[in-house]
Amino acid sequence: MLAVSLHVAGLTVLTAFASLAAAQTPNVSLLIDQPYYYDLTQSLDIRALLPYVSLRKGAAFQWGSTYSYPAATEANWTSEKFSTFWNHIVAGNDCKWYATEPERQDFTLSACEGVSQYAAAHYATFRGHNTFWHNQLPAWLPGNITAYDLVNNVIPTHVSTEIKALGWNVTSWDVTNELISDTATYNMTSLECVLNADRWPTVTYDGGSTPLVTNLSFAYAAWETALLYDPGKLVYNDYSTGAQDAKTECVFKLIADLNQNASIPYNRMGVGFQSHVGAQEGYFVPKAELETTFARLAELGVDALVTEMDLWIQANDTINQRYQAAIWGDYLDACLYASNCVEFINWDNRDDTSWITPGDGHGVAMATLFDMYGNPKPVTYEIMARFAYYAQGGPELCASALGTESCTLY
Ligand SMILES: *[C@@H]1O[C@H](CO)[C@@H](O)[C@H](O)[C@H]1NC(C)=O
Ligand SMILES: *[C@@H]1O[C@H](CO)[C@@H](O)[C@H](O)[C@H]1NC(C)=O
Ligand SMILES: *[C@@H]1O[C@H](CO)[C@@H](O)[C@H](O)[C@H]1NC(C)=O
Ligand SMILES: *[C@@H]1O[C@H](CO)[C@@H](O)[C@H](O)[C@H]1NC(C)=O
Ligand SMILES: *[C@@H]1O[C@H](CO)[C@@H](O)[C@H](O)[C@H]1NC(C)=O
Ligand SMILES: *[C@@H]1O[C@H](CO)[C@@H](O)[C@H](O)[C@H]1NC(C)=O
Ligand SMILES: *[C@@H]1O[C@H](CO)[C@@H](O)[C@H](O)[C@H]1NC(C)=O
Ligand SMILES: *[C@@H]1O[C@H](CO)[C@@H](O)[C@H](O)[C@H]1NC(C)=O
Repeated sequence: MLAVSLHVAGLTVLTAFASLAAAQTPNVSLLIDQPYYYDLTQSLDIRALLPYVSLRKGAAFQWGSTYSYPAATEANWTSEKFSTFWNHIVAGNDCKWYATEPERQDFTLSACEGVSQYAAAHYATFRGHNTFWHNQLPAWLPGNITAYDLVNNVIPTHVSTEIKALGWNVTSWDVTNELISDTATYNMTSLECVLNADRWPTVTYDGGSTPLVTNLSFAYAAWETALLYDPGKLVYNDYSTGAQDAKTECVFKLIADLNQNASIPYNRMGVGFQSHVGAQEGYFVPKAELETTFARLAELGVDALVTEMDLWIQANDTINQRYQAAIWGDYLDACLYASNCVEFINWDNRDDTSWITPGDGHGVAMATLFDMYGNPKPVTYEIMARFAYYAQGGPELCASALGTESCTLY
């Protein structure tokens, strides 16, 4: 349904007139401002466009969101969206440790498998989230388990059982989630990046002071096990990453360590950028920085994935909704135009089911692609326009979220 015709007009659009006071929202330019570019009355059938996106990329492009087993509150709406809008699914919670191994060696994988089956029923692909995380653990963890038992028995058993059960058709697994400290500094070693987080299992419980596993053997155990059983990509997933900063530097140190010390080939690895971000300067990663990071991974042969994107806004008005559209569009473009990015997952499907809620410190929230009634927003149409533009071979756009700079859209 490539109804949108490509106009290459070389227009230069000024993105903003805003003086850049810290929290001031610039009035950005968007692709949907060009009426011949995307007609807002058209259907939002992104799934019909994705084969053309994949054709240009030379690889299947996965555009996804979360699902909770057995049925979302808005079951019909959800089913419709996973038939026409998204082609890829991740379980919100159903594949986490507390859900899958509630008692030691007593696995309950039916909900996690149910999400995979729901994906298959919608001709969608499925990704695994996650096999190791310090959060949302079963009651028996952290528990009174020795470092030796954890590394040699608990982790290998959990990772292998889950990965084997979900099977060959998982595009990628988040093998380890959120190991790296938020207060990491440049020049920390990979081990220091992890120890500095004070999270289980390097301490007996999160924030505790008693050391438990004092090296990265627990991470190697998860990755070595995943490598044995998972034919898909093995992913290190984290938040507040992607910019040129110390935490992102730690990600590079960690994957180098896993490559050297756990023998994980770079071409089997991916780095997941969760991308829980805000439509306010300093709360999202500018496109150029994301692209630099993705390209550095590509040089190693490592994939980049956007794994959990949502984007809160400061106020419920047009200018902020447009800013949301610009930033989300830039993240999508950073992935589309990168040689090593084929999975882009949004976190939670609509504002009424989002984990980000008004009053929780994230502006007015409204952080997903559909509003509280399931209706599309400017960002939804902008995403459709960016996909259509890419599918038709459009050259890369400049970063539309950059407030003051002139921006040649096309
Ligand atoms: C923001 O930009 C759009 C598109 O150029 C324009 O229609 C709108 O009037 C502008 N809004 C403000 C508040 O300047
Ligand atoms: C949901 O879809 C089913 C099957 O198509 C239909 O029978 C049912 O009436 C729908 N429910 C609502 C609330 O639309
Ligand atoms: C993956 O394979 C399993 C086992 O054959 C099946 O139950 C599931 O529906 C499949 N999932 C997808 C997304 O194809
Ligand atoms: C932990 O387990 C060890 C060895 O089984 C035992 O000696 C110790 O008392 C236990 N500690 C707690 C707090 O249960
Ligand atoms: C790493 O930690 C594990 C668990 O405490 C321990 O068994 C192992 O000997 C340590 N490895 C090295 C090289 O120190
Ligand atoms: C410390 O990190 C910075 C930034 O990555 C790098 O330029 C510098 O060479 C590092 N210094 C040492 C001693 O490794
Ligand atoms: C591999 O592990 C050794 C021993 O802990 C460490 O010194 C080295 O830096 C690690 N390799 C990488 C690439 O991080
Ligand atoms: C956002 O603003 C629109 C237009 O004023 C209004 O209809 C809608 O209810 C508001 N949404 C929220 C969540 O406040």
